[in-house]
Amino acid sequence: MLEEPLLTVENLEKHFPITRGIIFQKEIGRVRAVDGVSFSVNKGETLGVVGESGCGKSTMARCVMRLLTPTGGRITFDGQDITSIKGNDLFRVRREMMMVFQDPYASLNPRKRVGSIVGEALEVHKMGTAAEIKRKVQDLLEVVGLNPEHYNRFPFEFSGGQRQRIGVARALAVRPKLIVCDEPVSALDVSVQAQILNLLKRLQTTGRCIRIPAPSCRRCRSRTRTWPAAASRSCSRAMCPARSTPRPPAGSTRAARASRRASATSRSPC
Ligand SMILES: Nc1ncnc2c1ncn2[C@@H]1O[C@H](COP(=O)(O)OP(=O)(O)OP(=O)(O)O)[C@@H](O)[C@H]1O
Ligand SMILES: [Mg+2]
Repeated sequence: MLEEPLLTVENLEKHFPITRGIIFQKEIGRVRAVDGVSFSVNKGETLGVVGESGCGKSTMARCVMRLLTPTGGRITFDGQDITSIKGNDLFRVRREMMMVFQDPYASLNPRKRVGSIVGEALEVHKMGTAAEIKRKVQDLLEVVGLNPEHYNRFPFEFSGGQRQRIGVARALAVRPKLIVCDEPVSALDVSVQAQILNLLKRLQTTGRCIRIPAPSCRRCRSRTRTWPAAASRSCSRAMCPARSTPRPPAGSTRAARASRRASATSRSPC
């Protein structure tokens, strides 16, 4: 019997209205940030989404995480339709999926100490006593290559790479079934990028994630199923899945469709 995918996204759409007027706001247009994206992720699998800047990768990731409510389409996570769930249902689902954000400078609350940032989800979901949470957070800091003594530091006391490690530790804290990484290394320099990617790769054996790499072939490696959201032929050639027959998405963003048409006629630079 075929195993049900962990995450299924069908015809996902997210449109942002463009309005005019201050008191009586009138919609004069729409930014179609995500338009008809479909894909699925199995348990233990990593899906990489590649695309040019502004093609809708972060918006798609936020919709999957239900940080944004989709305009259309359907998201099924672990057998449950989460497209429009709210309240307690959404709260329960949030424990199962976590996100590593694109910007390590903006994604950590500057007023909170690292221990509190990493342990927040554990506290919110009541996953242990204060002492247990502290021990768990210190273990996590060690797992991601930081010093457990960094527990009481503030985010500004860390470098960009260290901050992103804090973001990874936060995402791992509740042992989620799905981790969405939104270009987790795009704001970092090359040597630190390698450290974070190696860390994610090491953690891949226990985690499941959608990774949104920057559009570079070298990062789209084995064990990562990659499809272009809007990118060059070089990235679509990097489609190298953990399973033998990759399933390209049924749809994608508007730019991706254009890119696929273009890539069918162009030669790969890879
Ligand atoms: N809140 C919003 N209101 C209006 N338009 C938005 C909003 N958020 C994103 N957009 C638009 O949606 C499009 C997709 O943005 P998104 O941030 O998802 O791109 P991206 O693929 O992640 O880009 P990058 O690689 O630079 O991070 C962009 O054109 C952006 O201007
Ligand atoms: Mg983005």
